[in-house]
Amino acid sequence: MPSNTTPPDKIRIMFVCLGNICRSPLAHGVFRGLVAEAGLADRIEIASSGTGAWHIGEPADARMRQTAQKHGVSLDGLYAQQFTAEDLETFDHVFVMDKGNLHDVLFLDRDDRHGHKVRLFRELDPDPGDYQVPDPYYQGRFDHVYTLVERTARALLDRLVEEYDLRSV
Ligand code: 4NP
Repeated sequence: MPSNTTPPDKIRIMFVCLGNICRSPLAHGVFRGLVAEAGLADRIEIASSGTGAWHIGEPADARMRQTAQKHGVSLDGLYAQQFTAEDLETFDHVFVMDKGNLHDVLFLDRDDRHGHKVRLFRELDPDPGDYQVPDPYYQGRFDHVYTLVERTARALLDRLVEEYDLRSV
């Protein structure tokens, strides 16, 4: 690459759920692994957050970490933070886990400028069901959540590679 060429900006991806201790950290960890495997870690920035504030600063739920670990995915280094209106400016794509999250995130878009960036994560799922990742915090089914998140994360990476022409980078 010629020395005067500025590398293209990173693509900034944010995953959002309610508490940022189960679903969105899982999506963050799984996607982080896939992006690294694809050699795209310098092109794609990944973050996760929750619409609620209850768990700020906490690591992912032990049950979620255990399920992830079973599949070779580490959620180390991820601590819950709350989604903010500023995140709507910063991130290129915001993927939410359910329709409650969608409502809460769009509520922060006061001037209706960022709605186009915000989508249900499972819109990318090849088998999208009701387009939502069920909340495992009370309902359990962590393995089922893992299956949905992993499948959708793979589809998301394929989509970004296509959309941003990342194969040639
Ligand atoms: P998450 O799960 O949104 O997937 O992180 C939840 C975690 C905590 C709570 C709800 C959902 N809570 O009510 O504390």
